[in-house]
Amino acid sequence: MSRIFVTGSADGLGKMAAQLLIDQGHQVVLHARNKMRAQEALASVPGAETAAVGDVASIAQTRDVAEQVNQLGSFDAVIHNVGVGYREPRRIQTEDGLPHVFAINTLAPYLLTALVHRPKRLIYLSSGLHRSGDISLEDLSWERRPWQGAAAYSDTKLHDVLLAFAVARRWPEVLSNALEPGWVPTKMGGPGAPDD
Ligand SMILES: NC(=O)c1ccc[n+]([C@@H]2O[C@H](COP(=O)([O-])OP(=O)(O)OC[C@H]3O[C@@H](n4cnc5c(N)ncnc54)[C@H](OP(=O)(O)O)[C@@H]3O)[C@@H](O)[C@H]2O)c1
Repeated sequence: MSRIFVTGSADGLGKMAAQLLIDQGHQVVLHARNKMRAQEALASVPGAETAAVGDVASIAQTRDVAEQVNQLGSFDAVIHNVGVGYREPRRIQTEDGLPHVFAINTLAPYLLTALVHRPKRLIYLSSGLHRSGDISLEDLSWERRPWQGAAAYSDTKLHDVLLAFAVARRWPEVLSNALEPGWVPTKMGGPGAPDD
């Protein structure tokens, strides 16, 4: 039996993974953007231990999420699942001056990886779209390029793979993987998504 923290687990794949893990006997801590979503998440995932709260579009709130998780003690695994999709029609700027999609999909997993006590296993939700990501890593904050939502999303999903592999290289005692879940019918994937 393992203890697992799943980010972005109020809905979608994170919620489903949390429930599957609990059904298999594991101990799971959820994460949601605010207190109301945390209550909804806890009500819809019976057996979850508790939920960390914080909007990971904010660096300050992401740091706070890391503190909450560390207060809970140690974890066997962290699933970095939280994400927003490719349909942002313009460069939505966060309180830290960053593109919303970059803050949530790239920076939040990076910060949480750095700040949460090191688990035995790290899992990062990437996407098949990582193959279209810009490997140059130039203009990460989309200040010099005209905004393209799909390209911005693809970049972040490439960053998740790079992060998983960098962690694997630097922390050889930690299992670190990235995965593509397919195109699945969640809030992000939309009702017409073809995969399971
Ligand atoms: N669905 C697909 O076909 C697909 C394909 C490839 C990769 N992925 C990846 O799989 C992961 C999960 O996607 P999904 O399809 O399950 O998405 P989803 O259904 O939209 O769920 C995303 C979850 O993240 C939470 N979240 C989003 N922004 C947040 C923020 N700023 N702070 C805190 N929580 C936040 C959402 O909270 P609320 O419920 O409160 O909004 C929701 O619980 C993502 O990393 C995504 O890139 C999905």
